[in-house]
Amino acid sequence: MDKFVIAGGTALNGSIPINGSKNSALPALAAALLTEEPVTLHRIPRVRDIRTMQRLLVDIGASVTGEGDTVRLETPRISSPEAPYELVKTMRASSLVLGPLVARCGRARVSLPGGCAIGARPINLHILGLEQLGATIHQAHGYIEAQAPGGLRGANVQFDRITVTGTEDLLMAAVLAKGETVLRNAAREPEVVDLADLLVKMGARIEGAGTSTIRIQGVERLAGAEHTIIADRIEAGTFLVAGAITGGDLSVTGCIPEHVSALVSKLQQAGVRVTQPDDTTLRVSPGGQLRSVDMTTEEYPGFATDLQAQYVALMTQAEGIAIVVETIFENRFMHAQELARMGANIRIDGKQAMVAGPRRLTGAGVIASDLRASASLVLGALVAHGETVIDRVYHIDRGYEKIEAKLAAVGARIRRVE
Ligand code: EPU
Repeated sequence: MDKFVIAGGTALNGSIPINGSKNSALPALAAALLTEEPVTLHRIPRVRDIRTMQRLLVDIGASVTGEGDTVRLETPRISSPEAPYELVKTMRASSLVLGPLVARCGRARVSLPGGCAIGARPINLHILGLEQLGATIHQAHGYIEAQAPGGLRGANVQFDRITVTGTEDLLMAAVLAKGETVLRNAAREPEVVDLADLLVKMGARIEGAGTSTIRIQGVERLAGAEHTIIADRIEAGTFLVAGAITGGDLSVTGCIPEHVSALVSKLQQAGVRVTQPDDTTLRVSPGGQLRSVDMTTEEYPGFATDLQAQYVALMTQAEGIAIVVETIFENRFMHAQELARMGANIRIDGKQAMVAGPRRLTGAGVIASDLRASASLVLGALVAHGETVIDRVYHIDRGYEKIEAKLAAVGARIRRVE
């Protein structure tokens, strides 16, 4: 298993280019199952979760080819409408094939995801929504089997709570259903909008993506399309925090500033200088001692849960006490204990973390527990005195492309060892 060895204490200066969004690319790949025609996707990040999704699509019957960050998918026929446990247990987003499979061929068999490092993460809302669209669902042997031999019918679906992949799954199911579907209390995340943009290029009729009510008029069939995935807002946010925590002068390029405005606002309140030199660049530079600022995670456009761990790392260097409340997942403070091993003063009480700073962090051996927690350990290590060894970096490889090369290019002393 690979490890990162990081010698902290150098400010990061320069600029880092941002990749396409992992969480946009995953549903876009699944959407290719909705048509027999070719779908070409550009700016696909080369990360492990994407490779896992491509493997799943090949098993289902897609041919997947590509060069660089372009992927071309073609699924003339669905040979096996199934997402097996072996893949779902490594990547919960595999459940994104459920909606497209039922819509395209009237049946799907998808393993139920088990527990997860950040919370329970059930898919009951995906299932309930599909039932409302007329699918019959049975659960046995750890799998759910969905059937809709006569096709899906449009319906009103009111989500009990906001779910990102649930909204995406239902959107992909509804585009081929007969009649109108209205999704209420839908997720407003940019990744949902990006998926809707792709589906519209494929011939779908969708209105309201990006708001909490999405209206879909079902069509008979979808065609192939070509689409470029949006920039990864979580990668952009992670590097902005890297600049801020090291007191560097760092730009992230090729991003969509509006998508990280909740983070930028917190950085500014904490005393970091943030400017926007052009439409797709954000630049952080030092503004003096960091100040503690409370933060609560929320669905978009609120502060992203996927940037909470990175923000906690930043607050260890800020003066005062920051109360960080996690409202999306019930167990997403695994990084706190590891940061504490490096000297951070963090107290967890249920959904709330109290971070007192500034604390001098020192290098230590730590373990990555999930994707974003790993990113926060890298951030802590960048500012720590001495050497930090982060074990199990396969978690970080799920969602960040070449993070060590990108950080090294702006001055970080980081290397990967086997
Ligand atoms: N939930 C249910 N039932 C459901 C679905 C969700 O109770 O059927 C609950 C979840 O347990 C959670 C909350 O609703 O407490 C929100 O979960 P959501 O469904 O929105 O999360 P997700 O779609 O599984 C996506 C991202 C996550 C990101 C969350 C929240 C993808 C592939 N994953 O997950 O990204 O944290 O939305 O924004 O888009 C990551 O990239 O590191 C990551 C975990």
